Amino acid sequence: MERIVIRGGRPLRGGLPVSGAKNAALPIIAASLLARGETTLRRVPQLQDVRTMCAIVAQMGMAVSWKGCDELLLTPQTHQPKDAPETLVRRMRGSVCVLGPLLAVRGRARLALPGGCVIGPRPIDLHLKGLQALGADFQVRRGSVLGRAVRLRGARVNMRGPRGSTVLGTANVMMAAALAQGRTVIEHAAREPEVQDLAHYLNACGACIQGIGSRTLTIDGVAELHGSTHELIPDRIEAGTFLVAAAITGGRVRLEGARRDHLIALAEELTGIGVKLDWQDDAVDVRVPGRLAPVRLSTESYPGFPTDMQPQMTSLLCVAPGLSRVDDRVYPERFTHLEGLKAMGARVAVRDGQIAIEGGAALHGATVTAHDLRAGAALVVAGLAAEGTTTIYGVEQIDRGYENLEAKLRGTGAEVWRESVSGAERRPA
Ligand code: EPU
Repeated sequence: MERIVIRGGRPLRGGLPVSGAKNAALPIIAASLLARGETTLRRVPQLQDVRTMCAIVAQMGMAVSWKGCDELLLTPQTHQPKDAPETLVRRMRGSVCVLGPLLAVRGRARLALPGGCVIGPRPIDLHLKGLQALGADFQVRRGSVLGRAVRLRGARVNMRGPRGSTVLGTANVMMAAALAQGRTVIEHAAREPEVQDLAHYLNACGACIQGIGSRTLTIDGVAELHGSTHELIPDRIEAGTFLVAAAITGGRVRLEGARRDHLIALAEELTGIGVKLDWQDDAVDVRVPGRLAPVRLSTESYPGFPTDMQPQMTSLLCVAPGLSRVDDRVYPERFTHLEGLKAMGARVAVRDGQIAIEGGAALHGATVTAHDLRAGAALVVAGLAAEGTTTIYGVEQIDRGYENLEAKLRGTGAEVWRESVSGAERRPA
């Protein structure tokens, strides 16, 4: 067991590089199951979730090897099992995106059902509905879903759910439709950059997907896909987390490798509260010239403000004088960061299902626990701003989505390090 320790209160100064996107890597590694040839992925982040997805496809008959530190080679083998390894699948909700590829190429898929998680219920009804429209049959039994498909056929599918369009649901249907017979039209498709990246990868493998980035995707099924080489997009949530880290410490940071077009909603909110962003080609300079202002914001599907930046933004608003309100419309129960923030002196509460933040608090160090990935990121950025020492447990959550986090932050002068914790020192959950 490990913990991250931060001696906070110093402005970050210097450059921060952005890694490849975790949420693009996961479905694209799953999609490599569709291709007959080898897939080479570039700019792949070394993260726990990526390693889990690699282990899943490895058990599904894919030879997985790394070349250098960020290139991944995925080579199909002749032995091709149909059931996804249960313990690995249960470990990570993102593993649901092997469902579409397995049905498309192996005609059968058994998957342990990803249950709810600490950020709220996460059903997969829309995934199943979409794949059923293409001709798959599902039986849900004893915590597993068993899918069968003799022949997938193109259909009209709607991916809109009660909380916006489903990201991995759209990915699953798109992957299955790539090899289905005839034309599939996905209405209310998720437009997240990671879904677009998946579509570009599939097209590079010979798929025929049109309307990428729009609400309507048209997919003409092809007989087979070949391998290809693809470079992942930069991680907009890691980039956003670093923008917030720079702002909350009143620092001056150059973020390298971020894409402006993927960060528009976040950049608008940051600019609105007084953070200055100067964009160059693929870098952005961030600083805070004056006092921060409060805001009311809601998360939405892309291109709206991302739910995966809600916890980190909440941390930032804790130091912005005035009353802010945050309404997470994608995950209305995403609150697990609030307990840690309160322990650090933040004045935050849940009112009418929204987060109310009485800003302007002077944060101080505390011992806190990351209960999920982005909650962990929120505690790290708060710890960077807090006076004194912050100790964060639950580091394995943070490792799911941030590559070399402490080393990157240390490059901007942050005092942050990782310690092993012996049994006697373990903090109770
Ligand atoms: N939903 C349904 N039915 C479904 C699927 C989703 O009602 O069948 C609801 C969910 O309960 C939620 C909303 O729709 O309220 C959006 O869920 P979505 O399906 O879009 O989420 P996801 O595809 O499972 C991905 C990311 C999440 C990110 C969400 C929303 C990956 C691997 N995961 O999840 O990332 O929060 O989209 O943008 O791409 C993270 O990286 O920390 C993370 C949680």
